[in-house]
Amino acid sequence: MLVHIKEIIMRAQRGGYAIGAFNTQDLEITLAIVQAAVAQRSPVIIQVSESAIKYASLKAITHIVQTIAKNQADGIPVALHLDHGKSFLSVSECVKAGFSSIHIDGSDLPFDENINLTKESVAYAHKRNVWAQGELGTILGKEGLIKIEKRELEIKDCFTDPALAAKFAQATKVDTFAMSIGNMHGMFVGLEQLDLARLKKIHAKVKLPLVLHGASGVEHGEIKKAIKLGVHIVNIDTEMRQAWATALRRTLQADKKEIDLRKILAPATAAVQAVVEEKMKVFGSSGKV
Ligand code: G3H
Ligand code: 13P
Ligand code: ZN
Repeated sequence: MLVHIKEIIMRAQRGGYAIGAFNTQDLEITLAIVQAAVAQRSPVIIQVSESAIKYASLKAITHIVQTIAKNQADGIPVALHLDHGKSFLSVSECVKAGFSSIHIDGSDLPFDENINLTKESVAYAHKRNVWAQGELGTILGKEGLIKIEKRELEIKDCFTDPALAAKFAQATKVDTFAMSIGNMHGMFVGLEQLDLARLKKIHAKVKLPLVLHGASGVEHGEIKKAIKLGVHIVNIDTEMRQAWATALRRTLQADKKEIDLRKILAPATAAVQAVVEEKMKVFGSSGKV
């Protein structure tokens, strides 16, 4: 069943667990996420990025998620969210399409410009009963790491400053807050160590559900500690993509004559479902429906 994100996040806050926000761009990955949620009796956030929207079209991906949530989720709450919206236009289009939550990511902008863009997006969303996520600090990924390798940047330069986070949250009125504390987009096993002391300071100053982006590659014990320190949304994409691609390559290799798309894709969909189910157990959302 499609629900407003606030219903599942407020319950997660009260229960001390986190909800997984899993990326989709098509029918199969959406089915994998929803089947995992049903198997685990877990609430779930399904999110789409701007590039996923470009790939599938906003109308098609919205309808796929809404229809599956309504008809195939066996009563499990599913919330639809925009991931890393970079412009007011992205935000307003997703709000109009029926999303209950949007992420306005102004983290590349100077502090004041980030505040202005976020404020404008939050005001638009709130008028239409939609939650908004803001972001401060640079979440590293491939590009950022190259800068670090070239010594143009220190990892800690990118981390979210707790005092600025408090100022940002107060000025923008966001509902959830995404920060950089050592988490990175992509899989960088061993390198993604969370600065839990910094998270504790952010949690003390920003009284909002916190969002851990880039959680693929972050050690499960670290994620569990972060959940105890106020993280209630955990974003996962890369580990699902890796599982999907590995299974698909294996299937194609094993039977070079098979041409039925559904048979070829089934093991890849199942591999993604397994990743999502494992994460739901780690986040503590399993059995919460
Ligand atoms: O953090 C970003 C997500 O992994 C989505 O990536 O823009 O390639 O869809 P994407
Ligand atoms: P990963 O690809 O590292 O799991 O990050 C996903 C994410 O943060 C989506 O916003
Ligand atoms: Zn992200």
